[in-house]
Amino acid sequence: MDTAETHVVTGAFGYSGSRIAKRLLDRGIAVRALTNSPRPDEPYAVSILTNPLCFDRPEGLVHSMRGASVLYNTYWIRYNHRRFTRAQAVKNSLILFRAAREAGVQRIVHVSIANPSEDSPFEYYRGKARLERAIRESGLSYAILRPAVLFGDEDILINNIAWILRRFPLFGIFGRGDYGIRPIHVDDFAELAVRCGRESGNVVLDAVGPERFSYRQLVKEIMKIMGIQRWVVNLPPELGYWIGRAIGKAVGDVVLTRDEIQALMSGLLDSNAPSTGETLLTEWARRNADRLGRSYHSELARRPIRYGAYVGSAVRTMNAS
Ligand SMILES: NC(=O)c1ccc[n+]([C@@H]2O[C@H](COP(=O)([O-])OP(=O)(O)OC[C@H]3O[C@@H](n4cnc5c(N)ncnc54)[C@H](OP(=O)(O)O)[C@@H]3O)[C@@H](O)[C@H]2O)c1
Repeated sequence: MDTAETHVVTGAFGYSGSRIAKRLLDRGIAVRALTNSPRPDEPYAVSILTNPLCFDRPEGLVHSMRGASVLYNTYWIRYNHRRFTRAQAVKNSLILFRAAREAGVQRIVHVSIANPSEDSPFEYYRGKARLERAIRESGLSYAILRPAVLFGDEDILINNIAWILRRFPLFGIFGRGDYGIRPIHVDDFAELAVRCGRESGNVVLDAVGPERFSYRQLVKEIMKIMGIQRWVVNLPPELGYWIGRAIGKAVGDVVLTRDEIQALMSGLLDSNAPSTGETLLTEWARRNADRLGRSYHSELARRPIRYGAYVGSAVRTMNAS
């Protein structure tokens, strides 16, 4: 094991990033975090040097990455909001890639999305495809991982389907619900990312689990596993969107955007690629049936206003080390 090796993880306290960072530490690799959500309360934070994702100061990013060999990039913005936009995410990611190159990083493990396309009608998928092209042209060696949807503790989509199932007598499916969905467990995903970080060839891989469902099947499976009976009804997608919006207003979150509903219905969360994960969603849901959907998981609550996240905190930054 090479203890001198250093890898950088964006969002190292986030959903997939935290699993990647912990796995790297377990393998004796030094980890640096780039994040604006530092978590000094996390036990593994003491083993990590944490620096801001300061896109307005690229020299700071270069400094934070100098001497590291691999960058795992989970950074992205899911939807447009008055506080953040996907266009910003694309611009910032390009700054990050340039900084990685300048810092001498050799390899990037980049988290993309299944079915990205620069011609996509959806900004999310266009942005992701644009970033994949930038990576291919960057001169860095790369592994581009394309998950369709992640599940596991703290996930948003599966948990919130379960949350709605627990609270309402009806569950509305957008349209017929016959479009596919191919989830991968977040730990399998992190394992794959870390494995890809150890390799040197260029790869582009769909990161997908062993089970494939139609959306309708998925909802019914979750319902069965939780041991509850609800009416599953087909809804016009626009009505489904407005119901989601009303729920979002009640819980102070954005449940699903119009684009996300359309992308789901267009089959973009599906893939025919061989499985790169082992965990069955159905087995995981069975093991967690009692707590699944007990509380709502809010995307927006994970995005506090970050100005000054480092001020007065006990985070170990590179400058302080
Ligand atoms: N979760 C899924 O089901 C899923 C499905 C397909 C693809 N993906 C892709 O997988 C990657 C990682 O997803 P994840 O769920 O693990 O992400 P996450 O932990 O929620 O966030 C990952 C990173 O993005 C940054 N970020 C997210 N939203 C932001 C916002 N509104 N403003 C500023 N920064 C923001 C976080 O910054 P901080 O560290 O500063 O908080 C963090 O660096 C993303 O590229 C996503 O597109 C995820």
